[in-house]
Amino acid sequence: MTVCAVVQARVSSSRFPGKVLAPLAGEPVAVYILRRLARAKRVDHVILATSTSTDDAPLAAAVEAAGFRVYRGSLEDVLTRFVEAARLASPDTVVRITGDCPLVDPDTLDAMIDQFAQSAFDYLSNVSPPTFPDGLDIEIAKMSALEATLTEARPGHQREHVTPFIRENPGRFKLGNFINPAGDESMYRLTIDVPADLANVSALVDAAGTPYPTLADLREVLSSRRDLAQRCTVTNRNEGAVGSYLRDLEQQAPRPVIEKSNALWDKGKQLIPAGTQTLSKGPSQFVNGFGPKYLVRGEGSHVWDADGNEFIDYPMGLGAVSLGHGRPEVVAAISKQAAQGTSFSLMHPLEITLAEKIVELVPCAERVRFGKNGSDATSACIRAARAKTGRKHVARCGYHGWQDWSIDASYGIRARGVPEEVMSLTRPFPYNDLAALEKLLQETPCAAVILEPIAAVVPKDGYLKGVRELATKYGAVLIFDEVISGFRYARGGAQEYFGVTPDLCSMGKGMANGVPISVVCGTREFMEPFEEIFFSFTFGGETTAIAAALATLEVMEQHRYWDHCWKLGGMLQDGYRSLAKEHGLSAVTDCAGLPPWTVVTFTDQAPWSALQLKTLFQQEMLRRRILFSGSQFISLAHSTADIERTLAAYADAMRTLRFALDSNVVDQLTLGKVNELVFRRA
Ligand SMILES: Cc1ncc(COP(=O)(O)O)c(C=O)c1O
Repeated sequence: MTVCAVVQARVSSSRFPGKVLAPLAGEPVAVYILRRLARAKRVDHVILATSTSTDDAPLAAAVEAAGFRVYRGSLEDVLTRFVEAARLASPDTVVRITGDCPLVDPDTLDAMIDQFAQSAFDYLSNVSPPTFPDGLDIEIAKMSALEATLTEARPGHQREHVTPFIRENPGRFKLGNFINPAGDESMYRLTIDVPADLANVSALVDAAGTPYPTLADLREVLSSRRDLAQRCTVTNRNEGAVGSYLRDLEQQAPRPVIEKSNALWDKGKQLIPAGTQTLSKGPSQFVNGFGPKYLVRGEGSHVWDADGNEFIDYPMGLGAVSLGHGRPEVVAAISKQAAQGTSFSLMHPLEITLAEKIVELVPCAERVRFGKNGSDATSACIRAARAKTGRKHVARCGYHGWQDWSIDASYGIRARGVPEEVMSLTRPFPYNDLAALEKLLQETPCAAVILEPIAAVVPKDGYLKGVRELATKYGAVLIFDEVISGFRYARGGAQEYFGVTPDLCSMGKGMANGVPISVVCGTREFMEPFEEIFFSFTFGGETTAIAAALATLEVMEQHRYWDHCWKLGGMLQDGYRSLAKEHGLSAVTDCAGLPPWTVVTFTDQAPWSALQLKTLFQQEMLRRRILFSGSQFISLAHSTADIERTLAAYADAMRTLRFALDSNVVDQLTLGKVNELVFRRA
C-alpha cells in the first residue's frame, strides 16, 4: 500500500487571504501542515497541490524551500489539479487535507489508514457525521476512485470539491466514516477560516508547549485551559457545513423563484377562508416559503406555476387527470358539447350512453347514477345502504370525502361542525385486519362496510375476499370506494384487478381526465334504493363532463392506458426502491402501493418526524422541478424521459436526505415551513 497525502491549498481566500502563508509555530501554515503529515507513520509521500497562478508562487517557493514536493496545476479545475498532484507519487491510496486544517492529527491519520485498509473502503472520512474537532478533517480515497472521479464527475461542485462524486455514489463506492474513539469533540473549532481562528490555533499550540502537539496533547490543553476551550468552542458546528452544502445545492439546482405565487396567496387568503378550495392543494402541503402555490397551465405531464416555473406533475389534479393535461380528444369533446349546451332542464341522451359504458366496464355495475364529486358518490352509497338495510351505523376504513357521515374526531379541528351524534354512527376499522372488522360487525350491526380496495397499502392475500364474506355474513352492504382506484388498475377498476365484486361502488377521479363527474354503480338489487332516496342536484347530468368521460374512456382503450400506467409506474417504483437501498434509506422511505398509483412514505427517524423528512425531500424535488406530493399518479402523458428525470431527482434528494440524517441537520437544510397534515385517517 502506497499512501500519498496531498494538501490542497492556495493563497487567495475571500475571508482570509494569504492564510496558508501566515506564521504558525514559526513557519508558514502550509509548511506546518505538511510537517505534521510527515509525522504520520503510514504516510509515504506528502505533496502540496496548488495552482499555477502567480499569487501561488510564494506558497510554492516556501514549501519547496522546506523540502516538500509541490505540484502546480489549474486554478479553476481543482479536481484535475488534485489528481495530477497525487499521480506524482504513484500511490494506491490518497489522503486529502485542505489548507484550512493546520492541526491535522498524524495519530488519527494512521488509525484511519489502518481502518481503510482493513475494511477495504474506497473512501473513508471523519466528517460524516463529524465527531472530531472542526479542522481535523481527513479524507482517504483509493486512487482508482479518484481516477474514476476525474473522468466521470460532473462540472460544478463535483469537480470543485474533489470527493462529492465518490460520496454521492454509495452504490458504487464503499464508503466509511471514522468515529472519534474519545467521543464527540465536534464542538471545537480548530480550523482557520478567519484571522481570529489563527490566533486561537496559535494560542493552543503555544500552550501545548511542543511545536507539533497531537490531538491527545490538544485535548489536555483544552481541558486545563478553560479560556482557550471557550475561545475554540462553537455553538453550531454545522453552520459552516450546512451553509456550504446549501450553497452547493443551490449551484447544482437553483430553487424556483416564487414571487407571483406568494403575492397571489397574500391576496387569496384574505378572501378565501383556508385560502383554498381543496385542503390538499394548499401551501401547507408544498413547503410553504419554498414551493409554488398556484398553477396556471398544464400540458401533458407538465405544469407551469404562476411564476412560469415548469414542473413534471405527479399529483395530476389529485389523481383526476388520467390522460395528461389538455388531452386534445377530450378538449374537443368538451368544446363540441359546450357549444351545443351544457345544462338542460330535461335529461340528455348522453347519460344513457355513459351508463351503458360503465355497465360494460365495471364488474358490479348493473345500474348507474352520476354525481359531480367523489363525496357525492360515497355519500349516496351510504344513504342507499342505510335505506336498504334500515340500519344506521357504518363501518369505515380510510378517507371518503367531506360529508358529515365520513368525518370523526380524529379529524381534529376539521371535525368542527359535525354533530357528535352523527360522528358516533361511523365506526372506523383498520385495513388488512379481518379480525378487527369481524369484531366491529359483531358488536355493531352496520348498514355498510366501506373501504378503498387498495390505496398506499396493498391488500394481503385473501383480505378483500374476506371482507366480502364478512359483509355478507353480517348483512352489511359492501361498498368499494374506487374514487381513486377506478379507471386506474384495470378497465373495471380494482374490483376487476383483485377479482372481488362489491354491492355498490363509487368512482370518479380519472374518469373524465379532470372534468368533474363521479359515478355510483352497483348490482340491480343494491341500486334499487335509488328509485326512492333523495339523490338529485342541478348539475347531475351536466353534459360536458359526460362528453369528457366518454372521450377519456375511448382514449384509454385506444392507447392501452392501463398497460402504460403499470409499465411506467413500475419503472418509477422499482427505481425508487433501488435508489433507497443504494443510499441506505430503505428503512426510512418507501414507494408504496402498486405501480399505477404509488405513494412515497417516510418513517420517523428520531428526533425527526416523517413529515419533516418528507418536507425536506419534497423541497429537493421541487428544486429539480418535480411537483412531488408523495402521491404519484401515472398518466398516459408521462414518458420514459419523465421517469428518468424523476429518478435522477430522487437520487439527488436521497443524497441530501442521507447527509441530513447523518449530520443531524434535517431542520437546518429545510428552507420552508414543515408540511402539515390535512387530516388524519382513522
Ligand atoms: C378514496 C376517496 N374517496 C372519496 C374522495 C372524495 O372525493 P371528492 O374530493 O371528489 O369529493 C376522495 C378524494 O380524494 C378519495 O380519495
